[in-house]
Order: sequence, then C-alpha cells, then structure tokens
Amino acid sequence: MEPVDLLVHGAALATLTDSGVPYGLIDDGALAVAKGRIVYAGAESDMPLSLAGTAEQVVRLNGGVILPAFVDCHTHLVFGGDRSREFAMRLSGATYEDIAKAGGGIRSTVRMTCAASAEQLLAESLPRMDALLAEGVGTIEIKSGYGLDLDTEAKQLRVARALGTMRGVRVSTTYLGLHALPEEYAGRSRAYVEHVAIDILPALHAEGLIDCVDAYLEKIAFAPDEVRRFFSAARALGLPVKLHADQLSDGGGARLAGQMKALSADHLEHAADTGIEAMARGGTVAVLLPGAYFSLRETKLPPIEKFRAAGVPMAVATDCNPGTSPLYSMRLALAMACVQFRLTPEEAIRGTTVNGARALGLAHEVGQLAPGLAADFTHWPVSHPDALCYWLGEIKPTMIVRGGQICS
Ligand code: NIG
Ligand code: FE
Repeated sequence: MEPVDLLVHGAALATLTDSGVPYGLIDDGALAVAKGRIVYAGAESDMPLSLAGTAEQVVRLNGGVILPAFVDCHTHLVFGGDRSREFAMRLSGATYEDIAKAGGGIRSTVRMTCAASAEQLLAESLPRMDALLAEGVGTIEIKSGYGLDLDTEAKQLRVARALGTMRGVRVSTTYLGLHALPEEYAGRSRAYVEHVAIDILPALHAEGLIDCVDAYLEKIAFAPDEVRRFFSAARALGLPVKLHADQLSDGGGARLAGQMKALSADHLEHAADTGIEAMARGGTVAVLLPGAYFSLRETKLPPIEKFRAAGVPMAVATDCNPGTSPLYSMRLALAMACVQFRLTPEEAIRGTTVNGARALGLAHEVGQLAPGLAADFTHWPVSHPDALCYWLGEIKPTMIVRGGQICS
C-alpha cells in the first residue's frame, strides 16, 4: 500500500457517491491521500490501521463538512473589457438580441479581446479565477469564442492553459468555434463555418489547446446544419462536443446535442420535449446556468421536472462571462439554482460536483470523494451541505486541497 501523504479527519464527508444516503454523507469521516489521489474516503472507525499509521501529515478538524472541490463546467473566463454599458441598455428596454444585431454583444467583447495582449488578458483573468478558487472550485472549464480568428482564439486558449498552470488548478479548455459571425464574413456564414472546420480547428488541436468543442445554436448565431458540420469535424479529430442550446428560443439544440452524443447541452430554457428525450438517449448532461437566467431577466424556466423524469443529469455552472452572466461565485450559482430553478440543495450540489465533472468527461477524475479520484476537496464550516446553498455570501472554505496539496 502507498504511504499516505495526508490524512484528514474530524469532519463529515459529503462524498456525493450513490451510497443510498443523501449526499453520500458520512458523519465521522476520514480521507487519506497518497500521490495526489484519494486512497480512502469513509468512516474514521472503518479506516484500516495501516493507513492511519503511515500518514506523513495529519489534519484534525473540529466538525464541519468536507465536499469534493467544485467543478465549474461552463465559463468564458478569459475576455477583454466589460459590457456594463450594455447591462444599463438592457435595463432601459433593449434586448440581448437587439444589442447583438446592432453589432454589440459578443462582437463588442471580440473587439476588446482582439485588442488585448496575452499578458493583459492573463492579468485581467487571474482575479476572476482566484475568486472562483477562493470558494473551493478545483476544476474550471474555460471557453474561447471571443477571438473568432485563429490568432485570437489561440491567445485565449493559451491564457486559459497558463491560468491552470499558475494556480495548480485543472483547466479544461473548450474551443467555442461558432460563437458569432465575424464582420468580414457578413452574409457568408457557411464560408466561415468551413474556415473554422478546415483551418482553425485543426491548427488549435495540433497545438494541444482543445479539450472539447462548443457552438452557439441560436437565431442570432448559428444554424443546426452549421453546428453539425463543425461537430463532425471535431469528432473526426476525436474531440468531444457540447452546445449552447435553446437559450433564447427553441432551435432544436437539445435534440441535436443528444443525437450527437454531446457531453452537455447548456442553458436549455426553451428545450423541447423531443430534445429532452434525445439528451436522455445520448447521455448528454443538462448544464443549468442561473446567472444568465438572472442577468437577462429571463422568465421561462428550464424544464427541470422533465429532466428529472427523463433521468437527464443536471449540472450547475457560473457561465462567467461579460455579456449574460457576470458571476464569479459558485455559491451564488448554487443559491440561484435552488431559489430560481427549484433544484433541491442536493441536486444543486451534485450539479456543481459530480455532474459538472460528467459534463466535462472528467467523472473518472473529479467530482466525488472516492478512492482513485484526485484529492481535490474543500472543508466548509457548516453542519450540513444544504447550508452552502442557503447562505448568500459570508461562508468561506476553511481548508482547500487540490491534488493532495493544502492550498489554504
Ligand atoms: O453563455 N450565449 C452565448 N454565449 C454566452 C454569452 C456570451 C456573451 O454575451 O458574451 C452565454 O450566455
Ligand atoms: Fe456560455
């Protein structure tokens, strides 16, 4: 047996495994870590003595709950500038679609992201990432999509990788190749999709910058046949896909995502019944983004009850971006998922851990407290995990462990 590097005990464990009790909860738990992996997660009384005896470092906690580190499975964290002006315009009556059609929206962030150097982007993005990490996030998905041309998309993705290296955090990069049509391709959408599929995608992939591929299927963005073309190119390179689907209208996105066995379909306020069935068949996770729902003052709820009935797993993420979800807090996302979307606290917390991991194809690595998974976990000063969805603000982790290292 491996020598144990770290042993943590004296707290409850919310393992988020399917042990048959809520949260997979273990009251008097112990966690043993060797070489950055969990080697034991269970009742302290059941822990083999051989493990306890070899521990190099022992942390004795005085109550509280240990949870797996959060997995924020949908962010656009690397971008230039901000769009607070558009926020004010929306509050005065302009819609997100009006602003996009007038050349603002995503395209205004594209202009600011193109103008920023990689160093500037890194400096602007680091505090955003640090805010997420301070609340116990251990894995972050970061999308490109604010470059549109090869050089700027590559710049965004390299910055995303650099952020992960700088903070020792797992970053999953997503090439959001179809986000908006560049001005120079106005009226030539199909030509742009070919350029993305034939030129940009393979070049970014060859540099090892892509873990997954994403697209925005919407009336103001790209059409189903264009998304299919792009996804087929990604599939041919062995890359998994995910989709911004049915956010502002039903565009058949959930159905397409399910049919193409996408890892996830995200937003989904307007998803149709046929789409939900296709997602269930395709094993596609529904990623719910309450920050975007809130900031766009959306009134149509995603079909939560239908996802439950169909057995579609639900994840919850921040969607941190300057346009629709200026949100740097996983805890606020949890609270909003419960209050706005009526998820149970356990569903919301599973959504930010085990189901967030599934939405990234990383369930074999993170999202639960179980032997073999990465030792990414967080100790919270609460007596029950529900409290993390209930309090708005204030509660901060008392210990953060990533890769078996105590970070704070
Ligand atoms: O997840 N819907 C498309 N993408 C983002 C918003 C991007 C933006 O407005 O800058 C989203 O909501
Ligand atoms: Fe998004």
